[in-house]
Amino acid sequence: MSDFGDPCTRQVMGVIVKHFHAAIKEIEPTYAEWHAAIEFLTDVGHMYNDRRQEFILLSDVLDASMLAEVINDRPHSTGRQPPTFNTVLGPFYLPGAPHYPNNSNICLDEKDEPLLVSGYVKDTEGRPIVGATLDIWQTNEDGFYDLQQRGIQSDLVLRGVFVSEADGHYAFRTSKPRHYPIPSDGPVGKLLGRIGRHPHWAAHIHFIVTVLGYELVTTHIFAPDCPYLREDTVLGVRPALIATIDRLSDADMAKCRGLKAPFLHINWDFILQSTTSVGE
Ligand code: BEZ
Ligand code: FE
Repeated sequence: MSDFGDPCTRQVMGVIVKHFHAAIKEIEPTYAEWHAAIEFLTDVGHMYNDRRQEFILLSDVLDASMLAEVINDRPHSTGRQPPTFNTVLGPFYLPGAPHYPNNSNICLDEKDEPLLVSGYVKDTEGRPIVGATLDIWQTNEDGFYDLQQRGIQSDLVLRGVFVSEADGHYAFRTSKPRHYPIPSDGPVGKLLGRIGRHPHWAAHIHFIVTVLGYELVTTHIFAPDCPYLREDTVLGVRPALIATIDRLSDADMAKCRGLKAPFLHINWDFILQSTTSVGE
């Protein structure tokens, strides 16, 4: 590095070059192997459009995305409850999902077993947060997002935006998500195959929870009975984000939520950290 230029870029590049050279010295690639590596990165870069960003997927399967999340988790405030963990955004988020009143059903084709997800949005002192937006998206019970099955699933099925009420309460009806293979028809999928890794990512529901005055949370909740919880391909399951799913037969509760008993239920609270308490 020279003594000029941007100090931060010079510091970052110094670290990258040091470790990159160490890797090349350890691997001792042939010319052919070196060209294959450059071709791989070129293919990753070419796989880019409004539905696909292969470099993010590469970062995910190399555990770089989750490592960055963990490093950037804000120090906990001195509140009574730790804030909800962040996880990766993933490639299937679509901005502009429909807004629904609480208790609405986002499983528009009503094809799968109903699941009620409900709980509260609170601050780290346990006080309710009103007006928090919960932007939600997930797969159907077959493990596909709407945008992977155009013409089979309705557009914007299993996506919705909800707002927490005066007591912090939110609720929506959906179906149970299933584990699914991350997109494996590109260079990252081929790489996983070559190193003997399966492409499955544990069953989950995605949330972005946001409200003025609090840190935005991008997170998942994971289904407890998924076979890929302990060896998912994104290496992103945090034990604190594994939910419990109950099968409830309370007919009154079912009726007031617009469901038939028995139905599945996840009770889940989101804890947000005030922007003014960061770093306390
Ligand atoms: C997801 O959660 O949708 C996801 C995350 C990382 C890679 C692929 C998918
Ligand atoms: Fe996902």
